[in-house]
Amino acid sequence: MSEDGISAAVLSWYDRHGRKDLPWQQDITPYRVWVSEIMLQQTQVSTVIPYFEQFMRRLPDVGALAAADADEVLHLWTGLGYYSRARNLHKTAQRVVAEHGGEFPRDLAQLIDLPGIGRSTAGAIASLSMGLRAPILDGNVKRVLARYHAVPGWPGNKPVQDRLWALAESHTPQHRVNHYTQAMMDLGATLCTRSKPRCTDCPLQAGCQARLLGEPSAFPQSKPRKTLPVRQCLMPLLVNAEQAVWLERRPDSGLWGGLWCPPQLEDDQQLAEWLARQGWQVEHSQALPSLRHTFSHFHLDIRPQLLRITASCGVAEPGQVWYNLRQPSRLGLAAPVKKLLAQLETVL
Ligand code: ADE
Ligand code: SF4
Repeated sequence: MSEDGISAAVLSWYDRHGRKDLPWQQDITPYRVWVSEIMLQQTQVSTVIPYFEQFMRRLPDVGALAAADADEVLHLWTGLGYYSRARNLHKTAQRVVAEHGGEFPRDLAQLIDLPGIGRSTAGAIASLSMGLRAPILDGNVKRVLARYHAVPGWPGNKPVQDRLWALAESHTPQHRVNHYTQAMMDLGATLCTRSKPRCTDCPLQAGCQARLLGEPSAFPQSKPRKTLPVRQCLMPLLVNAEQAVWLERRPDSGLWGGLWCPPQLEDDQQLAEWLARQGWQVEHSQALPSLRHTFSHFHLDIRPQLLRITASCGVAEPGQVWYNLRQPSRLGLAAPVKKLLAQLETVL
């Protein structure tokens, strides 16, 4: 699909499926579009509609808003949340009256200079209400473009964001920019949703790179996790004369609660103390390859140590067991312990 083909496809989809009956799509003015865009920044369309209608009844134009009491504006906002949006709305109305003669400036830089109006909101006001060729990049459009071009990386990263803006800019058409802008928002809201996008209904499916890669919802990538701290432990794999391994049941709360596990020790000194307490003689000791297990808050690097001892099974206390690798009993094992035992079998 050519670059121009995108806007053509999006516009013909808009003609058939785009939303055209929202209250801010009637009697379109910069004031009405601006108020709706601010309300829609953190709030869903269905919630916004009654607030928007009430707001327009009370404060039908920018002059009325500029002259209103701050309390009145906040009252009309009550329930929408994020009240700095309402305070900025009021300030911006006063500046439009004082500095621009009561008309919203038809210039992106001057729009962005107003309180609460960022680059994407400025683009929406300019394209939806003034017919100016200005790109937008709200959350919905970001998702559509990141997928269409399979843009790697997290959009919170400046280079990724710059790339998405450049793509938004290059796709925005000269003609029908208002319909194009609305259609891109609607596509992201209805088809190209965060999870399970409906690609087979999408007008962009033929050229969509994320779809061609087979994993549309892998884009855009999410914020990278902070690097997790690493903890270390020593896990003695005690093997007795009958080739059984010593396991203990872990306390119900905490890591691997209730599961069976070799003892988890801090270091070799703890190991020596533990062996002495048990009264076992070690015949053979061998380090096995380390294993990393990742929990939500840290990595655990497990250093397994094979220890052959001369003892035989005898009677274990409750919560302790000699676990026979060849005739395993049905115990709950933590995932890395399963791996360790499988590894152990290969060296026995
Ligand atoms: N979200 C932000 N702007 C919107 C608009 N114009 N229509 C529907 N949803 C939106
Ligand atoms: Fe989004 Fe799928 Fe359309 Fe690509 S084809 S833009 S992933 S809905």
